[in-house]
Amino acid sequence: MDSQHELFDRYAHDHTEDLHFNPDIVLLPETKEQISDILRYCNQACIAVTPRGAGTGLSGGALPIYGGVVLSVERMNAIQHIDRDNFQVTLQPGVINEALQQALTAYDLFYPPDPASKGSCMMGGNIAHSSGGPKAVKYGTTRDYVLNLEVVLPDGRIMWTGADTLKYSSGYNLTHLMIGSEGTLGIVSSMVLRVMPLPKYQILLLASFDSAEQACRAVNALFLAGQTPSVCEFVEPLAFELSSNLTGIPFTHDAAVKAYLLIEADGFELSEVEKSIEAMYAVLDAHGCINVLMADSEDKKNQFWRLRRSIGEATKKGNVYKEEDTVVPRASLPALYHGVKAIAGRYGLRTVCYGHAGDGNLHVNILKDQLTDSYWNHEVKEAIREIFQLCYSLKGTISGEHGIGLVQKEYMPIVMPEWQLELMRGIKQVFDPRGILNPGKIF
Ligand code: MLT
Ligand code: ZN
Repeated sequence: MDSQHELFDRYAHDHTEDLHFNPDIVLLPETKEQISDILRYCNQACIAVTPRGAGTGLSGGALPIYGGVVLSVERMNAIQHIDRDNFQVTLQPGVINEALQQALTAYDLFYPPDPASKGSCMMGGNIAHSSGGPKAVKYGTTRDYVLNLEVVLPDGRIMWTGADTLKYSSGYNLTHLMIGSEGTLGIVSSMVLRVMPLPKYQILLLASFDSAEQACRAVNALFLAGQTPSVCEFVEPLAFELSSNLTGIPFTHDAAVKAYLLIEADGFELSEVEKSIEAMYAVLDAHGCINVLMADSEDKKNQFWRLRRSIGEATKKGNVYKEEDTVVPRASLPALYHGVKAIAGRYGLRTVCYGHAGDGNLHVNILKDQLTDSYWNHEVKEAIREIFQLCYSLKGTISGEHGIGLVQKEYMPIVMPEWQLELMRGIKQVFDPRGILNPGKIF
């Protein structure tokens, strides 16, 4: 049994840097009525409430920066109904992403969004950030799968935001307003998601390049050649090395290699998947790929996936770091990568870059190494500002899937004028006039 102190500490941080904020109290409701009672009480008493899933967020969204209540949905972890006829599933917000995926497999069904933390992140948090993951390149992000949400408002009222239908044209789309709102407008107590038939075959390969920019260019070429990989991830060698150190999975690489692409094709007919892989081989070859490793067994596939999914954790282990979640239109990925490295070089920063290249979504982890605190807190923030200005100039934005939360909010004015932020604050005011829900986040 955890000591009281350890218990509280668990709710004082998420996966964002080394930030800690103590809540005054942690509440673990089991029903929507309990959420409603808690919110009604806190609303009347003007007490801050920070909603929380598994605490795997990377932008500080679950940090109780003003103390008050942390409301964890972890006990609301039931898959309420799998409706095979309609390809839908209804579940509570505390269900772990991978648990949902496993439950659906038994019905030959598939829920594609698969964040790196899928083994621990909860679906309520996935809704809060419209989480993505490697499969988003073919299948889209959380947003593309949510049909209807049951939401508890700050004053305790409970509503369904829409209908359990594939189409919706009945006024403002409150479902989509809730998705990505980072727990600032209401607390999701149940959700209806769209699911798909489970593809039968996957072929996974790891392509290496002696130029990272060439690897980035190859990404767009795959799509221009008419291919739609089900995964298209960019990884720098250092990222795999760190992950290999953490997981113990052996990973050796040629010093000439400057970047990898982890690519998957999936489908229902093996011959179709093989055809797609062949076509992708040809494109990679024409774009300076120096080697391709095929994951020829389930074991090898699992190793590649573990290496990829552990990069975030491995990079953070033993390092002070800041993680940026840059995203641009896919064809601009080479320009983004080039610019990030140029800015990092000018500021003398060591970066580990990896991410969802097929979505133009590059995670840039900046390591503190021997930098002084003052340099870290001032100059490095200027470097980040420049990186985000670059994203904006390429028609991208400052977060593709990790959200704004606490740590990115100072950069929001880069991508929208003050009056537009005011519009967002106006929406917040309508839903939460007393400002009790996740205060201090997004803007
Ligand atoms: C990933 O793609 O690995 C995740 O977004 C998590 C991370 O970057 O830490
Ligand atoms: Zn990611």
